[in-house]
Amino acid sequence: MKQINDVIAIDGPAASGKTTVASLLAKRLGLLNINTGAMYRALSLKAIRAGIQAGDSGKIGLLLDSTDISFRRRADGSTFVTLDGEDVSEQIRSQEVARAASIIARLPAVRHYMVSRQKKIASHMRAVAEGRDTTTVVFPKARHKFFIDAPLETRARRRYKELHAQGSSISLEQVKEDVGTRDVADCSRKLSPLTRDPDAVIIDSTNLTPEQVVEKIEEHLGQSLKREANPPPAEEG
Ligand code: DC
Repeated sequence: MKQINDVIAIDGPAASGKTTVASLLAKRLGLLNINTGAMYRALSLKAIRAGIQAGDSGKIGLLLDSTDISFRRRADGSTFVTLDGEDVSEQIRSQEVARAASIIARLPAVRHYMVSRQKKIASHMRAVAEGRDTTTVVFPKARHKFFIDAPLETRARRRYKELHAQGSSISLEQVKEDVGTRDVADCSRKLSPLTRDPDAVIIDSTNLTPEQVVEKIEEHLGQSLKREANPPPAEEG
């Protein structure tokens, strides 16, 4: 069980920067990056290719029986997701896949499959696991938990910049509404809602670059590793 609890789990709301931070951190520490969102996206890609509706729980359940979603590392230390052995890291970025993923992620059979897959992967290899249920549902006993946060306004601005860099002409107001709606949906859904684990170290990323957030995480990791090396003396009496 030690390996699985060794995981560094990172949660946070939409557009908090958690995916970028987790990927940078994993690369710097030489660990696997379990990007849980990429797993839901990979399954959605498979469903789209097979002509299956994302909400069709019966067919998706059958699809899961013959699906292998995994991660591998490149020579430069970065991690990529595989679907039945194929590198699908590019194909899963489309809007079509994102839309299907938000539906597929609500199916209980899918969540069950993903959570057990994520635990299995982390039992083989030390990892940074990122996603909205990683600190609470998937790795509740993780030794290191972080919650990357930022106010809605900041997160909406970031998402707006990203979308405009991709050629979108969406307004800031619309992005703010979308991110706000996603916050409400994420926090109120029945299965694995986004909640802040009381043990998680909260990092407000408002005025920090992803690199600076990674540095803060490394400071915390350093301190807790030091504490483990020099445990406090047992209480007398
Ligand atoms: O973070 P992302 O956009 O790549 O996630 C894709 C979808 O999967 C998104 O709708 C949220 C969902 N998801 C989830 O339900 N649980 C996770 N641990 C990660 C992502």
